[in-house]
Amino acid sequence: MSGHLHAAPEPSVTVRTPGKVNLVLRSGAVRDDGYHPLSTVFQAVSLFEEVTATHVAPGAGISLTVSGPQADLVPLDETNLAWRAARAVADHTGMDADVALHVHKGVPVAGGMAGGSADAAAALVACDALWDAGLSRQELTMLGAGLGADVPFALLGHTAVGTGRGDVLTPVLTRGEFHWAFAVQAEGLSTPSVFARFDELSGEVGAPGGAATSRSDGETRNAGAPPRTGGETRVSGGAAEAVHAGRSPDPGEDAALMAALRAGDPTALGEALHNDLQAAAVDLRPELARVMEVAEEAGTLGTLVSGSGPTIAALARSRRHALAIAAAWTAAGAASTVWTATGPAPGARIMG
Ligand code: C5P
Repeated sequence: MSGHLHAAPEPSVTVRTPGKVNLVLRSGAVRDDGYHPLSTVFQAVSLFEEVTATHVAPGAGISLTVSGPQADLVPLDETNLAWRAARAVADHTGMDADVALHVHKGVPVAGGMAGGSADAAAALVACDALWDAGLSRQELTMLGAGLGADVPFALLGHTAVGTGRGDVLTPVLTRGEFHWAFAVQAEGLSTPSVFARFDELSGEVGAPGGAATSRSDGETRNAGAPPRTGGETRVSGGAAEAVHAGRSPDPGEDAALMAALRAGDPTALGEALHNDLQAAAVDLRPELARVMEVAEEAGTLGTLVSGSGPTIAALARSRRHALAIAAAWTAAGAASTVWTATGPAPGARIMG
């Protein structure tokens, strides 16, 4: 080896990726492939996963360790998304899948903030760099989409509209910094079970085929109403539309949210927050209604279930206000842990 022509390979690479909150999440009826067509706006927040990929001897295979506050909740085998990401890079490039992965978790586990997807995104970038595979951003995104609907956004970060399964992304311009508080529950919710409950609740109110969600009548959605109530009617007018399973909700509905992001106006953003999965998450975990009430009593600008929950996100006026909301949750015994963060945050970054 003639030293100065080739830099010595790095012994390890660490990549940081953000968790996310969905500022708005609108879902259509389930598609044939089991996914729901979404119109969502992701915002990456400053809670980060860190994945370190380290060289190991040829033939050693993939190994995985995990650290962080909820590390014990994470699988350490080939079902782990970071492991699957390393495998995907190896399969795609024909390289040997020899790597030691370490995941440090800073995003709540099974909380609706896409921590597992962030691990996958970080592991893709880390393995690509460690193995000098030279994958393009586009290839990494394609591999990410194969691992999970939220993985492409963890690569991209900042704020973006997601359509399709949530994996077709368009960046959104924003101004300034938004302050968030998060109430995390000890027991997570599984995303498929929340979508399944969403389908059931949609069907109960109306449509043959099981999913009436009017996309044209603003009155059918009420972002401010946390618990599922008879009042949160999905009118039968939506039924005709709903039988076209797979039709996407219209991102054009969120003009007020886009304007709030462009203007950096947290009050207007708070009013525009909305999550179609909220009623389903609250139906599965009725105590979440109280968590949102406590945030409202603490003066939040807007509160909602993050993704498929059970984490509750509350938008605050300032860092101090975010801490006050978090303190109110703690005082009320409304959360297992409370976190504060800012958004938007950058996507996947190689550290050091
Ligand atoms: O893509 P990912 O594995 O993260 O999704 C987990 C599950 O969440 C899917 O298997 C599906 O049940 C549900 N899901 C959905 N529609 C989406 C995204 C996820 O139904 N757009």
